[in-house]
Amino acid sequence: MDSVLSPLDLTAREAPDGPVAIARPHRVTAAAEWFLANFPGETFYAVKANPARGCSTRSGKMASAVSTSRRRTEVALVALEFPTAQLAFMHPVKSRRAIGRAFHDFGVKTFALDSEDELNKILAETGGAKDLTLVVRFAVSGDGAAYPLARKFGVTEEEAPALLRRARQATEEMLGVSFHVGTQCMRPDAYRTAMDGVNRAIVEAGVLVDVVDVGGGFPAIYPGMTPPPMIEYVNSIKQGFEEMFVAQNAKLWAEPGRALVAEAGSTVARVELRKGDALYLNDGAFGTLFDATHLNWSFPAKLLRAKESRARLAPFRLYGPTCDSMDAAAGPFMLPADIGEGDLIEIGSLGAYGTAMGTRFNGFGETVTMESKDSPWPSMYGEATAKVVAMPKRKRTSTKKPKQV
Ligand SMILES: Cc1ncc(COP(=O)(O)O)c(C=O)c1O
Repeated sequence: MDSVLSPLDLTAREAPDGPVAIARPHRVTAAAEWFLANFPGETFYAVKANPARGCSTRSGKMASAVSTSRRRTEVALVALEFPTAQLAFMHPVKSRRAIGRAFHDFGVKTFALDSEDELNKILAETGGAKDLTLVVRFAVSGDGAAYPLARKFGVTEEEAPALLRRARQATEEMLGVSFHVGTQCMRPDAYRTAMDGVNRAIVEAGVLVDVVDVGGGFPAIYPGMTPPPMIEYVNSIKQGFEEMFVAQNAKLWAEPGRALVAEAGSTVARVELRKGDALYLNDGAFGTLFDATHLNWSFPAKLLRAKESRARLAPFRLYGPTCDSMDAAAGPFMLPADIGEGDLIEIGSLGAYGTAMGTRFNGFGETVTMESKDSPWPSMYGEATAKVVAMPKRKRTSTKKPKQV
């Protein structure tokens, strides 16, 4: 991979015709190290956020990797590159073939489910394996999230006890519970509230649970969305876990995606045309700007010019290169008022769900990646400003072959 000291270097060479994705693997390292130092359990990486090798490599220092995709390629990607990684297939609805391949070809033993039918599929495709870790996914409120995920997956608190009992009987290894509070969760207490509901269902089911997986949802900083310090999320999870009936013996897991990689990527795009406050770029909704266009989120942007512009900052809208009118981002993106055709702009904090969402629609989507060593965008991993709540150390009696209670 080509590298630059900073994206500004691109102004001095012939930039590719398409957009340039800037990768900053050192930002993944910073985020991964933060989670390793502060999260009181095992941190998996939700590969879907950015399947680029550099991201998994940096997160690879962590215990494990999560494949949240039903496609074999995501499981295979991690399994082949990182043979020692602990893999978990956390998509609650998988094809039979994907389950079978994950289990037989790549040794995956951890599967999420949110229905009895999916449990039956998992048991059938793994030949009735008794050593599975079966993780029951709950539907929890997405109220604290910029993008709630509650509607598609998960059992309700009322439905859960029956499925928990059934899954408990199906495995001699570990039974887990998981949820997702929604991506870009802005309220740390959403985790504690979710854990409270999950706990009620476990008590009602009368089963012992070995894994409490708090999912993803950990936020990044975007314009107009400055989350509370990350340590407040960890504190909320610690408190929620403490209050759970199974806390004495269960393992605590998390599956961050966005929070591990958001700061590690940006896009350098070229202005092809300006019409008033609208900039037509060589990248957009079907390239790396999915969240900016489809979710209408704002992202930090700056003009890359060898000689810095002295013009005032003005709000701009962006249009992508395809013919689709959905290929538009309202922003606003604050850029110097004298910006025009041929200028390069860098759009930051796109490491999560940026290049990962790109398509080849309308003949576009050819994106060159270059590595950069700088750290120009706001970070969640500076000094912690909130007080850390200690989680008492306790003896683990057993995490395997739990007895039914
Ligand atoms: C099962 C699962 N785990 C983890 C994640 C990562 O979520 P986030 O990027 O919000 O941290 C996702 C994303 O939707 C997911 O579906």
